[in-house]
Amino acid sequence: MHKDLASILFTKDQIQQRVAEMGAQITRDYAGQEVVLIGILKGAVVFFADLMRQIDLPVKIDFMAISSYGSATKSSGVVRILKDLDHDITGKHVIIVEDIIDSGMSLSFLKESLLGRGAQTISVCVMLDKPSRRRAHIDVDYCGFEIPDEFVVGYGLDYAELYRDLCDIGVLKPEIYEQPEQ
Ligand code: IMP
Ligand code: MG
Repeated sequence: MHKDLASILFTKDQIQQRVAEMGAQITRDYAGQEVVLIGILKGAVVFFADLMRQIDLPVKIDFMAISSYGSATKSSGVVRILKDLDHDITGKHVIIVEDIIDSGMSLSFLKESLLGRGAQTISVCVMLDKPSRRRAHIDVDYCGFEIPDEFVVGYGLDYAELYRDLCDIGVLKPEIYEQPEQ
């Protein structure tokens, strides 16, 4: 285990198994159709790359980047688009792929901003869900795992841009992000 982790929540093997199940479910749900996967940079990239290879349908991909202002471990709900889609989604079956849903502010902003662009359907797919911290109502169509209210890293998820490369998902030791009182 990485020295900055307090515990491992999901191992590489557990994640791979769950992602395969999610890909199979999406394949069944969209049978006979083409889908556009929209990955939210940067946290979703590892999950995105695994998931797209588990979907047995014609798949196109695109990416968006957003910033949400707030402290290092809690988002404020104020969201801004840093990078928009490269392609038009009119008439498409869109699946938004995100690393984690916490307050829900980022995904509800994203879904709202895509709804006005003429997609035929839009669904939301997340690797992790922290349901206890939800502030915005948003339906999650595909969810890998529900987790408790802990700050987690690995499998794309970062703290201060580190730990995205870890193969497991684990709880970061609080002393890494809790500053001592001045
Ligand atoms: P929301 O808008 O509060 O749902 O925030 C979602 C975003 O916050 C995610 O895309 C992550 O970038 C970040 N985030 C929330 N919880 C965690 C966590 O436990 N570890 C790493 N990033 C997190
Ligand atoms: Mg994110």
